[in-house]
Amino acid sequence: MFTTVAPIKPALPRDLFGAIADLKRELNAVILAHYYQDPDIQDVADYLGDSLGLSQQAAETDADVIVFAGVHFMAETAKILNPNKLVLLPDLDAGCSLADSCPPDQFAEFKAKHPDHLVISYINCTAEIKALSDIICTSANAVKIVNQLPADQPIIFAPDRNLGRYVIEQTGRDMVLWQGSCIVHETFSEKKMVQLKIQHPEAEVIAHPECEEAVLRHADYIGSTTALLKYCQNSDRQSFIVVTEPGIIHQMQKAALDKRFIPAPPMNNCACNECPHMRLNTIEKLYLAMKHKTPEITLPESTRVAALRPIQKMLAMSV
Ligand code: 13P
Ligand code: SF4
Repeated sequence: MFTTVAPIKPALPRDLFGAIADLKRELNAVILAHYYQDPDIQDVADYLGDSLGLSQQAAETDADVIVFAGVHFMAETAKILNPNKLVLLPDLDAGCSLADSCPPDQFAEFKAKHPDHLVISYINCTAEIKALSDIICTSANAVKIVNQLPADQPIIFAPDRNLGRYVIEQTGRDMVLWQGSCIVHETFSEKKMVQLKIQHPEAEVIAHPECEEAVLRHADYIGSTTALLKYCQNSDRQSFIVVTEPGIIHQMQKAALDKRFIPAPPMNNCACNECPHMRLNTIEKLYLAMKHKTPEITLPESTRVAALRPIQKMLAMSV
């Protein structure tokens, strides 16, 4: 006969938000969070932003501990910039389908086939891919960075084929694209989008460039998460169809209480427009990570040094 033993639940303080504030002071920690995090996490963050803003904050912080509420590649970027700081990720399994779609060994072979090409990699990739790259970019600065390169410079763009195609359209440059993608942004359906536009003819469609071309075709505005947030704050319109991970709607609504934000639906009747990786982090896990100073981001020093150079190039080319 078997007896089942219930898993031991870690003890949590009654006032979780107060306890997080106390730990922040004790550790001299800063909490950096992406817009796709749960609203509770967004509300305790010292800085909330898109991938570019988060890496700029990570480069500048004088905190001893960085609590990164985002996914692994984001926390890893913070560690690459801050080898002597403790960088915590509330759930170490918070990965990224886009980063996973570009294995370093296959990418090294791909790169070897284009020896005269400069490699621009979207920040949504592993440290190993960054180490194989010349310049890193984000969705906020990809067009700006490509436009700064000589017109005759051949370019490989990795790993997101959708952002790559969007950058080609915006810059008129011919780039070789790695065929990676994000499971969340490829889940939006053009058909449902058109139906939604018919139901809400007054609404503007705002979309992230990680979406497929068929969906972006219907967008009134395309930009990074920070750009989308600013756009709806400044627009005269009262309603918006939001074609990105719906976590950002928390900030959109906070910034414009009188406006309406309609999340774009996924293809199936599921919640697959929510990033399953981002949503692994919870406010409870964030508290436990700070209390026990784990899980910590670590990486080999040789990889860190090689990955630092293209990140620093990006930061210099973004000002
Ligand atoms: P940005 O943070 O650049 O808007 O990108 C969104 C995203 O997919 C992060 O993983
Ligand atoms: Fe990766 Fe897509 Fe999730 Fe962003 S939304 S972390 S690109 S899987």
